[in-house]
Amino acid sequence: MYNSIDLRDVSVEEVRGIDLDLVDLAVPAPEYEPQRQFYFMAKCRRYVKTMSEKAGRPMTFFTQTFGCQMNARDSEKLTGILEQAGYVMEEDENKADFVIYNTCTVRENANLRVYGRLGQLKRRKKENPHMMIGLCGCMMQEPEVVEKIKTSYRHVDLIFGTHNIYRFAELLCERMESDRMIIDIWKDTDKIVENLPAERKYSFKSGVNIMFGCNNFCSYCIVPYVRGRERSRNPKDIIEEIKRLADDGVVEIMLLGQNVNSYGKTLDNPVTFAQLLQEVEKIDGIERIRFMTSHPKDLSDELIQVMAKSKKICRHLHLPVQSGSTRILKEMNRRYTKEQYMSLVERIRAAIPDISLTTDIIVGFPGETEEDFLETLDVVRKVRYDSAFTFQYSRRTGTPAAVKENQVPADVVQDRFDRLLAEVQKISAETCSVYTDTTQTVLVESMNDHDPELVTGRMGNNILVHFPGDASMIGTLKEVYLRECRGFYYLGELRE
Ligand code: 5AD
Ligand code: SF4
Repeated sequence: MYNSIDLRDVSVEEVRGIDLDLVDLAVPAPEYEPQRQFYFMAKCRRYVKTMSEKAGRPMTFFTQTFGCQMNARDSEKLTGILEQAGYVMEEDENKADFVIYNTCTVRENANLRVYGRLGQLKRRKKENPHMMIGLCGCMMQEPEVVEKIKTSYRHVDLIFGTHNIYRFAELLCERMESDRMIIDIWKDTDKIVENLPAERKYSFKSGVNIMFGCNNFCSYCIVPYVRGRERSRNPKDIIEEIKRLADDGVVEIMLLGQNVNSYGKTLDNPVTFAQLLQEVEKIDGIERIRFMTSHPKDLSDELIQVMAKSKKICRHLHLPVQSGSTRILKEMNRRYTKEQYMSLVERIRAAIPDISLTTDIIVGFPGETEEDFLETLDVVRKVRYDSAFTFQYSRRTGTPAAVKENQVPADVVQDRFDRLLAEVQKISAETCSVYTDTTQTVLVESMNDHDPELVTGRMGNNILVHFPGDASMIGTLKEVYLRECRGFYYLGELRE
């Protein structure tokens, strides 16, 4: 084959469409991104081809995502790069030649699961000469973790962090050319690389990063240390990406950031999140807009107004409260009081009466007393969340809360957690049932797991609905009559 394309002469706009088999690898790699990464994808592609020829079958990969929506989106980028590099996706981890875990470290148990899984991979690697193991994501930003892997999990091939995920192809190539464990972790970055490939998990919906990192330093949270300082993408890049997604059949997008309400503050030409939403709303083909996560301290009246008027923004806000005690909120460095949170909820409900509110709550933060906990229960009872993610406080090394002396005993935490969960579940079952006998718009997402006669979709507020249908409906919006509420989901019938 005639390898004629010198990627150093190719523009950013053109590079996504290039046939990587035609890239000239005799010339040096481009110095700039994203062209440089496409060069390494082309190079990996040739190594993978040789491995496939030797094995007499395609080389396959498996990605496992731990943690949040941000990680899920990052995994789509990993998938896009691996597919360009010539690997084929494999659903069964036990059969894959390349296994990569995109890790989370927000709570201790996420870390423990990764170590457990890594132990199991060791034996498989002995059996498969082509096998490689990669680790990336938040957990890798912690120096102790990398040390532990270097000494106790020598069978890992490649480790990188959250800031340099865009260099995945280059690191993979480096590993293919050497026998060493490749480790590349950056402490922080101000760089955002656009236009890398991504392979969506769903054809009809997609996450879109609008910002990276977090500047809030809540005292329990490791995110600002592992995801770095807040950086917003340019509105133009975001809009272009969403237009491309819409052209490709996407009808629902989820704008992603640790704190979307502070989007745009650090741009050369500052833009507010509400302004960005208005631009996104104009894009033809996009029917539903979601976003997460909103920090209560930054949620503006401008945003509430934009949501109230919008035809496309889902009537749903994820508004983590974390605790209902003003004293604990101060210790958490959340920068709002219980009263401020409650008054925000009131303003939101006044402007958007049918809004669905969800939240995150931590129990057992150091120094939390029974009275503090009762304040949390009080907020839960007053706000009546549609659903809530409840967490037991997990001590994260390096965060200010981890060194506090008044850690709450495990049995007390467990007891409060159980009481909170019971309350949250009781209220969500009640709030969920209010839509019985109404007709709602549902985005059909999949065939039902248990009954082949049914499809499963989501209402704007995220509640699941099952109703009779077929695969041709997947990815379309349907009007569905909600016949029966079963706790957290509905059984319905197609209207039309
Ligand atoms: N312990 C328990 N929960 C935590 N979260 C973040 N850090 C911790 C921690 N150290 C929860 C918060 C956050 C969600 C993503 O995870 O509730 O909103
Ligand atoms: Fe963590 Fe607070 Fe930032 Fe959320 S806002 S990522 S809880 S530091």
